[in-house]
Amino acid sequence: MATEILSSTKKFRGTPVIPGDKSVSHRSLIFGALASGETEVTHLLNSADVNSTASCLRQLGVEILKIGDDKVLVKGCSGFRFKEPSEVLDCGNSGTTMRLLMGVLAGQDLKATLTGDASLNKRPMKRVSEPLSLMGGHFELTGGNFAPLTIKGKPLHGINYDLKIASAQIKTAIMLAALNAQGTTTITGEIHSRDHTERMLNHFGVRVTSDDHQVVVEGGQSLKGNSIRVPGDPSTAAFWLGAASLIPDSLVKMENISLNPSRTGFAEALKRMGGVVTSKMVIHDPEPMGTMQARGSRLVGVHIRAEDVPALIDEIPLLAVLATQAHGATIVEGAEELRVKESDRLEAVAQNLRAMGATIEVRKDGFAISGPQKLKGAVIESFHDHRIAMAFSIAALVASGETEIRDSGCVAISYPDFFKTLKSLSR
Ligand code: S3P
Repeated sequence: MATEILSSTKKFRGTPVIPGDKSVSHRSLIFGALASGETEVTHLLNSADVNSTASCLRQLGVEILKIGDDKVLVKGCSGFRFKEPSEVLDCGNSGTTMRLLMGVLAGQDLKATLTGDASLNKRPMKRVSEPLSLMGGHFELTGGNFAPLTIKGKPLHGINYDLKIASAQIKTAIMLAALNAQGTTTITGEIHSRDHTERMLNHFGVRVTSDDHQVVVEGGQSLKGNSIRVPGDPSTAAFWLGAASLIPDSLVKMENISLNPSRTGFAEALKRMGGVVTSKMVIHDPEPMGTMQARGSRLVGVHIRAEDVPALIDEIPLLAVLATQAHGATIVEGAEELRVKESDRLEAVAQNLRAMGATIEVRKDGFAISGPQKLKGAVIESFHDHRIAMAFSIAALVASGETEIRDSGCVAISYPDFFKTLKSLSR
């Protein structure tokens, strides 16, 4: 297992190119596969998770051709007409791959078994199979809740569903199944998670109506292939915004970053912490995109409430690291979903902060951290979770002594060049 040794840096400066957004990359491939005609995807994220989606789609008969360094051409199947896979579909570490494919496959005339790595096979899947079963889908889950899971495609019908968890993966799985169902599907409740599916389906010629109260999808609509430029991933950019903010005399500038308001929660929180973060919108459609920059700042604590969580869900481990350096208390609440991510991120954060000599009060649905606290180099357990490995690499930049990031190779799940870029920005 690879390890990475890191130590503190005096400055953090540069203009890194940020790889494509992971959520938009998965969706570009899946929507392109369902569409008629061809879909050209530029700046697609080349990472383990997105490669899991591409290889599952290929097993389902979809042609995906690499036509440039970061460009692929997806040859659409003109609807929900995939081929029955002859082998198990391996989703690797990717929850998005598994959950979105459950929605895509539920109504197709085929049988498929989906599995994942040890981490993915421990994550809850009933939250997806339950609404899809109400639509007429048939699922067999290990222990009633987990992968490996088998889908036997059945004709689907629309439903009214009150979503209890603010999860874009569940919302998207229902929306995709709804396109292949008879009648109308209406989702109410916790719908304020990232809205890439709503925006991108419109880009592929599908009408989705959404407002503050509901998302409505009419069944039987077809997607039309379209070209798409994947914006830089704001959850990746967050590491560099965070590092620049923590280290005096630092400046990081980035272009073509997603400024989708359902994803900019970390930048907003950083501003509330006193971070000097600026952004400028350049393009609006289908995904808002523009520049972002941050410089060394004096940070103060921040209170993150349940309603703030969906827009920064993946950045909370990094926020915990920042909180140790901020003056005053940082409180995060309503973030119990962190317990069922690639690792139990609340426990992973607590264990690693304590290893670095910091104090944290872990709660059922979040944590409280008082700062500033001195961090000392330590051995960091990644728990095979890319966001934990990267968040604690940023902690290493402000810690005394050396920090060893164990299982550092897991950064390839979303950002294979993470350590190379980190070293090029450390001065
Ligand atoms: C994702 C949604 C988020 C996020 C994940 C990607 C997506 O999960 O944590 O990394 O692409 O829809 P939930 O919104 O399902 O919690």
